Amino acid sequence: MTTGELSPAHEAQTLPESLRETLAGRYYTDRDIFRAEQDEIFHKNWFCSVLAADLERPGRFETVQIGRESVIVTRGRDGKVNAFLNVCRHRGARLCTEESGEVRRSFQCPYHAWTYGLDGKLVAAPNLTAMPDIDKVSYGLHRVHVREWLGYVWLCLADRPPSFDETVIGDVTTRLGSPDAIVEYGVENLRLGRRISYDVKANWKQIVENFMECYHCATIHPELTEVLPEFADGLAAQYFVGHGAEFGEQVQGFTVDGSAGLAPIPGVTADQDRRYYAITVRPQVFINLVPDHVVFHRMFPLSPERTLVLCDWLYLPEVVDSGADIDKSVELFHRVNQQDFDACERCQLAMDSRSYDRGGVLVPSEHHIGEFHDWVRERVG
Ligand code: FES
Ligand SMILES: [Fe+2]
Repeated sequence: MTTGELSPAHEAQTLPESLRETLAGRYYTDRDIFRAEQDEIFHKNWFCSVLAADLERPGRFETVQIGRESVIVTRGRDGKVNAFLNVCRHRGARLCTEESGEVRRSFQCPYHAWTYGLDGKLVAAPNLTAMPDIDKVSYGLHRVHVREWLGYVWLCLADRPPSFDETVIGDVTTRLGSPDAIVEYGVENLRLGRRISYDVKANWKQIVENFMECYHCATIHPELTEVLPEFADGLAAQYFVGHGAEFGEQVQGFTVDGSAGLAPIPGVTADQDRRYYAITVRPQVFINLVPDHVVFHRMFPLSPERTLVLCDWLYLPEVVDSGADIDKSVELFHRVNQQDFDACERCQLAMDSRSYDRGGVLVPSEHHIGEFHDWVRERVG
């Protein structure tokens, strides 16, 4: 073969009909683009932060990283969830450095002891009585918008958040064809059976793109394609509106070996039975629905090349309380996760290569990923 037959790395190619272009490699490594994504995507959209049930009582808190902001999410005395920027109003010290914990009735800054109530109000500070002009509300912690949905606490850092119905619920509707199609699963009534966290050395968009296609399923997901044989054809459930992938004829449940699952969720309709639905809620949530459980992923982009993924397996409370063996059910998607994240890390390695300067290509079963790329480009340019 002469070198004349190879295409030089930097040369533009005209795309054949069946291919669409991806984002260029720098979108997955560049610090300025990542910063723009923090500003325009993560700081402006609804972001799924914590499982509400993890804040069992007033004073329980979790800290989460959203873009460049650390946020305290906590339950107040009135039982409502509040969220505040994790920044002391005196000289800016980070209030909580723990990932989670519990305070009795207030958060005290470890630097000069300014103290804030569970509602964020400044309640005490050394010599505060000598400064009667300080308004305790206006020098309280900065609030973040809160919304509870599907049992999770969704936050928005924007001054004026976008419509939750149009963005978060809109993404579910686009995928399932109806906003009610997820209601039957009663996700907010389910209980955490298992949580696994994955520290993935890949850009968050690699993970979103991977979740959106199934061209890779036959190659890397032997267990999943056994349970969902149609996935071997390479068309993800997300390719069609309202479509759930059907379990194989011999398959009894959504488990690693196709054996029977757990008690089914009562609201699941006959149409939804023995089917798997997957939904991406931009920018950082991936939900999987099967008749006996829900697998809920939250992604936390930490740097251009690192993303923390928390994956929750949710079951009926009676299943969790009974101590039923959920291992086979967890193992299926845990393997899928590992297989997917390995693939994402493998792609991430090439993002700085000159071979990927102009990006790669999407085959027809991946063309819908182009809409996600357009959504990103519209926001970060
Ligand atoms: S920085 Fe928090 S009390 Fe001074
Ligand atoms: Fe996958």
